[in-house]
Amino acid sequence: MSNLRERDAATIAQIGKLRFSPLSVVGGQGNRLIEEGGRSLLDLSGSAGPAILGYGHPAIIEAVEASIRDMAGASLLLYPNEPAVSLAERLLAITPGNGERRVWFGHSGSDANDCAVRVLQAATGRSRFISFIGSYHGNLSGSMGISGHTAMTHTLPRPGVLLLPYPDPYRPQFSAEAVLALLDYQFETTCPPHQVAAVFIEPLMSDGGLIVPPPGFLKALQERCRRHGIRIVVDEVKVGLARSGMMHCFQHEGLTPDLVVFGKGIGGGLPLSAVIGPKEIM
Ligand SMILES: Cc1ncc(COP(=O)(O)O)c(C=O)c1O
Repeated sequence: MSNLRERDAATIAQIGKLRFSPLSVVGGQGNRLIEEGGRSLLDLSGSAGPAILGYGHPAIIEAVEASIRDMAGASLLLYPNEPAVSLAERLLAITPGNGERRVWFGHSGSDANDCAVRVLQAATGRSRFISFIGSYHGNLSGSMGISGHTAMTHTLPRPGVLLLPYPDPYRPQFSAEAVLALLDYQFETTCPPHQVAAVFIEPLMSDGGLIVPPPGFLKALQERCRRHGIRIVVDEVKVGLARSGMMHCFQHEGLTPDLVVFGKGIGGGLPLSAVIGPKEIM
């Protein structure tokens, strides 16, 4: 009989596979993954982010079971849904922000960033965005179009997107000062700030190299953008919800973003994502 890897190759499309090891997995318990053949391995990957409570956490099992046993519908479209409203209330309570805000729910980090792009363009009437070389915001057309990851060069960026270098202590030519100076130069020349709806930023660049931005950079970026009415969207999909040691990664820098995007860990392994933003934009 063929093994799981062979069956996988014979059935599941190559699109979206990113395989770094020969591991094939049949189960998971706590912080361990169970390899085909039964070997139990300490999992240091968290499945690339979503498994922030590990595998088979009793609280997740209980929550899933309760929601399926007594299901408040299967959609938010037609009527208010108690568990969704409770979750929105909780997210608003734990996420710093200004003014009246609203929450949108989706299924993945990609669709949440797509949503943010769409609502920002519609609400501001501005169609340009700024993001960073190395950033990964998702694999749907909207979120791909504002990403700058080197594995995505097969997809053209969205027209009008400005990709800046992410300030990087290991690349002194991309100091915080140099990146901010480049942004100022772009504003003065080919990227008029009044055309820019928002900046998308990972508060700690994840797939682009696990880069911690120099202290003060995020705030300086935010101040520059606020001067021009440009919104700050913080992508917390990978590094949010306490993975960095604070509830939100942007809190390390005392930032107050306009929009916050959640994914991965918010579902604990189930497909769930969210965007929090100003009521008038959402
Ligand atoms: C920072 C960031 N944003 C968005 C995404 C997209 O999330 P998803 O894979 O759930 O669509 C990812 C995925 O790795 C990510 O790392």
